[in-house]
This record gives sequence, structure tokens and C-alpha cells, in this order.
Amino acid sequence: MNCRKFHLKNFGCQMNKLDSGLLAAALADRGLEQTENASDADVVIINTCSVRQHAEDRVLSHLGHLKHLKKSRPGLLIAVIGCMAQRLGKNLLDHDTVDIVAGPAQLPEVPDLIQNAFDTGNPQFAVTENIRTPDAPRRQQHIDRFEFDFDSDKNHIKSQAFIRVMRGCNNFCSYCIVPYVRGPEISRPPKIIIEQARRLAEAGIKQITLLGQNVNAYRFLENGKTWTLADLLETISQIEGVRWLRFITSHPGKFDESILNTMAALPSLCPYLHIPAQSGSDKILAAMNRGYSAGQYIELIEKARTTVPDVAIAGDFIVGFPGESDRDFADTLELVKKVRYKNCFVFKYSPRPDTAAWQLAPDNIPPEVKQQRNMQLLELINEIAEEDNRHFVGKTLEVLVEGPSKKSHLNAAENEQLPQLIGRTNNDYIVVFNGPLSLTGRFARITITKSSALTLHASVS
Ligand code: SAH
Ligand code: SF4
Ligand code: F3S
Repeated sequence: MNCRKFHLKNFGCQMNKLDSGLLAAALADRGLEQTENASDADVVIINTCSVRQHAEDRVLSHLGHLKHLKKSRPGLLIAVIGCMAQRLGKNLLDHDTVDIVAGPAQLPEVPDLIQNAFDTGNPQFAVTENIRTPDAPRRQQHIDRFEFDFDSDKNHIKSQAFIRVMRGCNNFCSYCIVPYVRGPEISRPPKIIIEQARRLAEAGIKQITLLGQNVNAYRFLENGKTWTLADLLETISQIEGVRWLRFITSHPGKFDESILNTMAALPSLCPYLHIPAQSGSDKILAAMNRGYSAGQYIELIEKARTTVPDVAIAGDFIVGFPGESDRDFADTLELVKKVRYKNCFVFKYSPRPDTAAWQLAPDNIPPEVKQQRNMQLLELINEIAEEDNRHFVGKTLEVLVEGPSKKSHLNAAENEQLPQLIGRTNNDYIVVFNGPLSLTGRFARITITKSSALTLHASVS
């Protein structure tokens, strides 16, 4: 008997990847088989992102490709799930390729929706009308159960797993769609998170990353005690087998400095912070509703560096926010010079419908200026990283090996008989070296031989 096959494609952030993993496990549990090849599939599921228009455009163009596939495979179902499904709702069903639409809060229902569509041939739609209603916490219990049941050690990278500690976001940065598509900020119960971590460690997971849009805001009241992120980290670090523990993404606005002390005290807590500044201009930070000034941000980073000397700082920036003058952009360059990031993502401002920035300010920075600022900022970030990375040469470090390098031709190293592998240090530096494939998912000691802005080259010690 042939079992039905699903193909799952992900367009979003780490949250979406996590959701895709849970859904894949739930579908496998129903007897469906996952295929890497859309043209073999009976149902193609697209997990979508709305954070920038570009992310949505990629999904729409992918739906265009699938239209052709559908012609050659009658009966093929197309499901659109995730943030874009939440934002566009029924409008997506108007797309003649789409059979199933489900928002992020309906993830546990997706297997049933797919089954119904197979059985009846009718379109299926499940999106919470207003994801920020007060009954959101009750709905979350249902999702938490699903998350607990289908959490898996079979992550995309061997030995590594992600655990969501909170959903949604209440920060309402003026440019951001996330609070509207992922709903209110809700911390998950520590008991469930710790149990998941224990199970993953027993299954051989060595590195756990705790996930939240605003992860340092984690708070959970239980039996009169308020659990914080620091409490969670301390408890999970005691679980046997968890060698490295990380958390992303930190918000600089309400950063509780006790986390830095925890980082300094716990050897398994990786000295790494992804803590986006978004801009270095106080005027723009206020317009973005970020809740801190450039000075406060720099002070926080200095505190992090004195408390945790080897901490690596990563960030995000948005260039071309409405009203960003040359002077404002120069302030961003200044902030970058002071902070000296390990790496940053730089994005061009993309107006998102119904956000405060979209309502209040026209997208008035011309595309060529956005492009120019994007390039200039990236150049500076890379220049600094290249300079700072030189001090690694000659040092012996430990990395967790992720697997073979996908760009081995670009990263030619010595000892060509062995495949080129990629690993990461505990502070998230990417290291490329030749070694046996059997090192995948294991820790290795390597000595750095060469450095560049984004990569360190090494040989096995
Ligand atoms: N919760 C995280 C990240 C959320 S989205 C945080 O607060 O840091 C990831 C990144 O996308 C953001 O850090 C921001 O730099 C960028 N981003 C979000 N909305 C955007 C928009 N409308 N245009 C361009 N970039 C955006
Ligand atoms: Fe968006 Fe701000 Fe929340 Fe991050 S903290 S998800 S940028 S609203
Ligand atoms: Fe993530 Fe994009 Fe949604 S960044 S939370 S998948 S809008």
C-alpha cells in the first residue's frame, strides 16, 4: 500500500523552522511520508513569513511554480500555513493554487485539515480572526500539548535542538508585523520546557537553544515563584548531556542584567548574545518604539563585555526607516564602531500594512539610498569583524561540528583528502576545517590557521 507523501518548505525564521519540525513529526505520526521532492508529493505545505514584503513575494512566486506542478499532478494539495496565512487569511484561498490555509495558532489542526481536504476535495480554512484576543492563553495550552508531543531530536543539525520558551510578542516595534501574526507574548510553563530539555538530552542532544522573539522577557508565575530566563538557564544547565546552552533573541530594552551574571557563572551557557540595536540614532529608535537610546544600548554592551569577557555580540539593523537622515545613518555607523559586532543582519525597511510605522509615516527613503546604506553598513561591519577575527589565528578552540560545508569550493582548505566540515564555537564563530564526516554532531578541538570577516579556517588539533 502506498502511503501519502508531504513536502514541507519553510520561508521564515527559527520559530517557523521549529513549527515545521513539529508538523513534520505530527504528519509522520499519521503515517504520511516526508519527501524532499515537491514533484513526488501528494501535499505541499509552505510555512510562510510576513516580516518583509520580500518574504511574502518569495512565497507568491513559489505558488506560481506550484501552479504548473498542480497541472501535471491532478489531486495535489497545496497548504499555506504560518505568518502570511495569518496576515492574509481568506485572501490566500482566492489564489487558485491554494487548498488549505492555516495560521500559526492552528498548527495542531493542520494534519486534520489535510486529511479533510484529501477526503472531501474541499478547501480548508483555519485562521484565528483576531490572534491577540484575551483567550489567547487558553488556546496556547492546546498548542503546548502539541509542541510537547511532537518535539523531536531529529533536528536539521545533528546533536542540536531548539526549544520555544515563549510565543508571540508585546513589544510592538513600530515597523514589525510579528505581534499581529504571532499574537500576544506568552511564556510557556517551565515544567514543560525542562521536561523537553531532559528528553532531548537523553536522545543525545548536546546543544539546546531557547527561543523567543524577546527571550529575556520570559516570566512564568508558578506556586508564588516567578521564573525568569536566568532561572530556566540554570535549571537546564544542570541536565546531564547538555554541554552548550544558548538563547535568542534578546531585546535590549528590558534586558535584566542578572542574565549576564548567569552567563559568567555557568560554563555551559554560551557567551553569545544576539541583541539587535536596529539603529544608532535616538530619533529613529524612538520612532521605532524600541524603548532605549543608543547610549543605553552601548552601556549594556559594555556591561556584557566586562561581566563576560569573551562574549560575542551579534545584531540586526534596519536601514531606510522613514525619516532616517544622513545624520541618523551616521549615528548607526558610530554605534557599530563602538560595539564591534561579531556579525549583523542588515535589512532595508519594508513597510508592513497596519503597523504603526505604516500608518504614521510614509516610506520616504528612496530605494537607492536604502541600498547604498545597506552596503555601507555591511562593509563597516565586515571590516571590523575581519580586524577582530585576526586574533584567533594560532588559537585552539572547541567547536560543535555541524556537518559538511555546503560551500567547500569557496573555502578551500588544506588536507584535501578529508571532506570540509563546518563547526561553531560556543560564542558562535563559524569554523571551516577538513576532518572525518564521523565528527558531525560531536565536539572537536581545532587550531585556527586563517581568518576572514565571516569565517575562521582551522586544522584539527
Ligand atoms: N524579535 C526579534 C527579531 C524579529 S524579526 C527582535 O526583536 O530582534 C527579525 C528582524 O527583522 C528584526 O530584528 C528586524 O531587524 C527585521 N525587521 C522586522 N520588521 C522589519 C521591516 N518591516 N522591515 C525591515 N526589516 C524588518
Ligand atoms: Fe518585532 Fe520588536 Fe517583537 Fe522583535 S521585539 S518581534 S522586532 S515587535
Ligand atoms: Fe518569523 Fe517571519 Fe513570522 S520572522 S515570526 S516567520 S513573520
